[in-house]
Amino acid sequence: MSLAVETLLHPFGNGVLDINDGKTAFLNAVYHPDISALKGGDLYLQQYFAPSCNELVQAGFSVSPDIPSKYKSYDFVCILLPKNMVEARYLMAHGSRLLRAGGVLVCAADNKAGGTRLKKLMQKFGFDDLYDDARNKARVVWGIANNLDEAELNAAILAGEEKPVLGAEFISQAGIFGWDKIDKGSQILSKYISSDLKGKGADFGCGYGYLSDFILSHCKKIKQFYCIDADYRAVELCRKNISKYECKKEFLWCDLTKPQDKVANLDFIVMNPPFHNGKKTDISIGQSFIESAHKSLRRGGHLWMVANAHLPYEEILKQSSFECNKLHEGQGFKIFCAVK
Ligand SMILES: C[S@@+](CC[C@H](N)C(=O)[O-])C[C@H]1O[C@@H](n2cnc3c(N)ncnc32)[C@H](O)[C@@H]1O
Repeated sequence: MSLAVETLLHPFGNGVLDINDGKTAFLNAVYHPDISALKGGDLYLQQYFAPSCNELVQAGFSVSPDIPSKYKSYDFVCILLPKNMVEARYLMAHGSRLLRAGGVLVCAADNKAGGTRLKKLMQKFGFDDLYDDARNKARVVWGIANNLDEAELNAAILAGEEKPVLGAEFISQAGIFGWDKIDKGSQILSKYISSDLKGKGADFGCGYGYLSDFILSHCKKIKQFYCIDADYRAVELCRKNISKYECKKEFLWCDLTKPQDKVANLDFIVMNPPFHNGKKTDISIGQSFIESAHKSLRRGGHLWMVANAHLPYEEILKQSSFECNKLHEGQGFKIFCAVK
């Protein structure tokens, strides 16, 4: 687990930065026990990723996927920077705009995820007097908002906003999974999915909606379709990208490693599950997706799935009581159609 959040909170914990009764926003917030150091005044927590939100909520915090809209009103803005540089600059630009004159921007990142470049990034936005601290293979840098470079802030916000991609076929946003491309695994899966799909189905981990769009454009007998993802932005993009299809659609922002009781008795599920937790391959996420899919399907329902060829999904599908049919293996992927 990244300890960049501990690094970010350190200057508050040791009294170098004092929240007092100030107004603070924490963007891309994740739970850490030291977060209590931010609790002094009015605290706003923002997070797009449902599992991280759930941890904060369990610890008694309220959290929103929306970046606050009231500019120039915060004393402190803390940002745990994501690795994607367009997304990181987008959050920093919004964070800078949220600060009142004289407010403090506090950013942290793992060294390998931009931490070593943090000072330069902040200087580009016009933060001149910068302070920093390094620990846990991460760096925290903070500075006072005085003469911000408005043109640079505008450019960063523009670059990180939703925009047309792939010849304007989809709308997407930097920071979500494979935001400006078609995933190769999903593309191969789409060639094997039956055009006979009908009834009630779902796309587990829908992203911006490539597979959902493919299915709804090819399978005209679908009555009801759920698009589900842990990334709030992905769910909202998918909503826009498939708005032209007329079947009943539902969009859910939730963690599919936990069974979703709301989504039951499905005829089919399509999925390209994540198999990474940060940089590490983590088969347990795919395993939990498969278990959730099993609970959501009716008996006889079908799970259409793509997986990286080196991962042992056959065993996992069988352990989860699926009858496992492999339709294809090649180009680094396996395609399964498993029956409950
Ligand atoms: C490999 S991508 C597939 C995206 C999309 N279906 C496509 O083909 O482009 C996996 C998706 O799962 C989502 N995801 C990751 N962890 C999740 C979780 N715990 N619950 C639900 N969705 C999750 C990611 O946000 C991502 O959109």
